[in-house]
Amino acid sequence: MPSMAQNGRVTTDFKQSNQAHNSNAFARREEIRQQRESLPIASVKERLIEEVKKHDVLIIVGETGSGKTTQIPQFLFSAGFCREGKSVGITQPRRVAAVTVAKRVAEECGVELGQKVGYSIRFDDRTSGVTRIKYMTDGLLLREALLDPYLSRYSVVIVDEAHERTVHTDVLLGLLKNVQKARLKSGTLDVIASKKNGTNGTLPGKEGISQSANVLKQSQDRKFPPLKLIIMSASLDARVFSEYFGGARAVHIQGRQHPVDILYTLYPEKDYVDAALVTIFQIHLEERHGDILVFLTGQEEIEAVERLVQERLRQLPESNRKLVTVPIFSSLPSEQQMRVFMPAPDGHRKVVLATNIAETSVTIPGIKFVIDPGFVKARSYDPAKGMESLIIIPTSKAQALQRSGRAGREGPGKCFRLYPESEFEKLEDSTKPEIKRCNLANVILQLKALGVDDIFGFDFIEKPSRAAIVKSLEHLFLLGALTDDCKLSDPVGHQMARLPLDPIYSKALILASQFNCLEEMLITVAMLSVDSVFYAPREKLDESRTAAKCFASPDGDHITLINVYRAAEDLLEKRKWVPHTERNEKIFKAKSEKIFKRWCKENFINGRSVRHARDIHSQIRGHVEQMGLRITSCGDDMLQFRRCLAASFFINAALKQPEGNYRAFGTGQVVQIHPSSVLFQSKVECVVFNEMVQTTNKYIRNVTRIEYMWLTELAPHYYTMQS
Ligand code: CDP
Ligand code: MG
Repeated sequence: MPSMAQNGRVTTDFKQSNQAHNSNAFARREEIRQQRESLPIASVKERLIEEVKKHDVLIIVGETGSGKTTQIPQFLFSAGFCREGKSVGITQPRRVAAVTVAKRVAEECGVELGQKVGYSIRFDDRTSGVTRIKYMTDGLLLREALLDPYLSRYSVVIVDEAHERTVHTDVLLGLLKNVQKARLKSGTLDVIASKKNGTNGTLPGKEGISQSANVLKQSQDRKFPPLKLIIMSASLDARVFSEYFGGARAVHIQGRQHPVDILYTLYPEKDYVDAALVTIFQIHLEERHGDILVFLTGQEEIEAVERLVQERLRQLPESNRKLVTVPIFSSLPSEQQMRVFMPAPDGHRKVVLATNIAETSVTIPGIKFVIDPGFVKARSYDPAKGMESLIIIPTSKAQALQRSGRAGREGPGKCFRLYPESEFEKLEDSTKPEIKRCNLANVILQLKALGVDDIFGFDFIEKPSRAAIVKSLEHLFLLGALTDDCKLSDPVGHQMARLPLDPIYSKALILASQFNCLEEMLITVAMLSVDSVFYAPREKLDESRTAAKCFASPDGDHITLINVYRAAEDLLEKRKWVPHTERNEKIFKAKSEKIFKRWCKENFINGRSVRHARDIHSQIRGHVEQMGLRITSCGDDMLQFRRCLAASFFINAALKQPEGNYRAFGTGQVVQIHPSSVLFQSKVECVVFNEMVQTTNKYIRNVTRIEYMWLTELAPHYYTMQS
């Protein structure tokens, strides 16, 4: 009977594919088991567990790739550290590392992500009640402490990549020291007063404060088990951590490192992007097999190089085109991040274009060649002017060594430093901790929310300068987050501390609800939180500029960003023309995705950034809804919105000077409007802006036209003080 035959065939096919699937899965499990067993850390498992049992603070130093991040949490799990519902928390300075490592460890454990193994980063939480191994960013654990001052769900906290010395890691170390003491004392939280700001669903303010009394009372009745603390670091500088924790025990894990040939250029390179490109093709055409890792400074640069590689490839004969590029940077959507770990198709070479993420946090297999232009994008802060900017600076020697080491993980490798050897000698030995070069407003706001009122007295691993603390306190005071006696103001300061945003953006959202334009401000803040939405390839500069004009608002970049966001939203969401059924939904989704992609291409819009912004938008919207802020739109009344921008960003206002430049009010600095701004070369008198970048000139970015008079009207506390 035909139907029987058909049925039979279907069943056989199914069986075959199922078998194939099983044997694939089996092979993969076996491969992973072997990989795990061959890691340097595998041979010291028992010793490490003993060390953790013996010492409440342990410092583990080990070569990158030795298995610290992926294995140690699993060791602890198997040694019983997650009994009674307790978890091991591992912090990472970078989002990408938290996500990719969690995925890998879930796979190693053979569980679904979000179950036993999960991650939590700002705007993306993949954990559940059963999660016992939780990877997260250092900033996120700081936020958790706001809700759970004893970090009571953790039996062990691992601060990974501590050598990176991000501002969050530094503050976290101080905080963890206090939590550990408080847990030992079990009950009296004197240093971290538990000013609990409510749980996710409750409002801060009065309610939060009355809750704090409860928490204290409860804690007096409760015994907390001690908190184990592990500090992990790639570099050899364990001493500073050990000293900070009163001479804590440090152990070293031997890694395996193969020799790496270091090559320098004879002369300094004028254009390191171009030099990197030339080197990629030189390796591709002349060297043996092996993947390439290129260190670039940010998303825009990575995307530009990606396009340039594709273009040059098209000019090569077919047989030489077997090169694939894979980007990796922090704001890359998480589903795309895992691509770097996949091998290139057969016979192809992979070029990984990475930010300094790939220096230590993420280990990519297969790399034999490293291209290091020698630069990194870093935060820089001028306390005298209160201005933070992102600048591209030379790496430190330690960073250069880490980068070249990536070529020697699996066998001998080569590192191409795109600068002369004499320049290497001039580099700083190590990178300055971020806390010494950033605006501290955000961190101070969080410390205050944790009840640490005396910021000067806080036990930082390295104290930020007094000037920087004073300036940041002043900044928070100007934003209305602090009272005259430097306490968190109620409700504004408490509300600001709850939002996972830069304080100036949090304040903008709070103000926007009063200006009836919270809808517009939510979009603005989301768009300002992602990397550049427009891209302008050098070879198509005119075309891209013409395309960008369709969205441009004569009022400035903020409204322009709203226009882009809304246009994208229209494409992705307008579905009035189809009845809402599951099938239609699928068709619509596929169709709108296609249209969206084409639209992005035609308009030189970075689709990745827009999607990321949509994601962030929905998350912040959730936060402000929970806070009870009124979400309304100002409709076409953009004057109202601009007034709100002036009221929010008054600290960053600039006035046109007779010679054509602008002068920033707060800092007195002479600045220019960045060429990427819609107000570039316009004759606007007065503007507010969000960002300053310093290349040969000081440029301001994300600029909107305002009236000078609004400043004295809307921020009299600042502008009467200034004049
Ligand atoms: O933390 P550490 O640098 O010591 O090493 P790790 O991140 O635990 O990596 C150990 C091994 O896991 C390396 O050989 C990586 O290549 C591999 N790994 C991977 O294949 N995929 C990931 N997503 C993460 C790690
Ligand atoms: Mg690691």
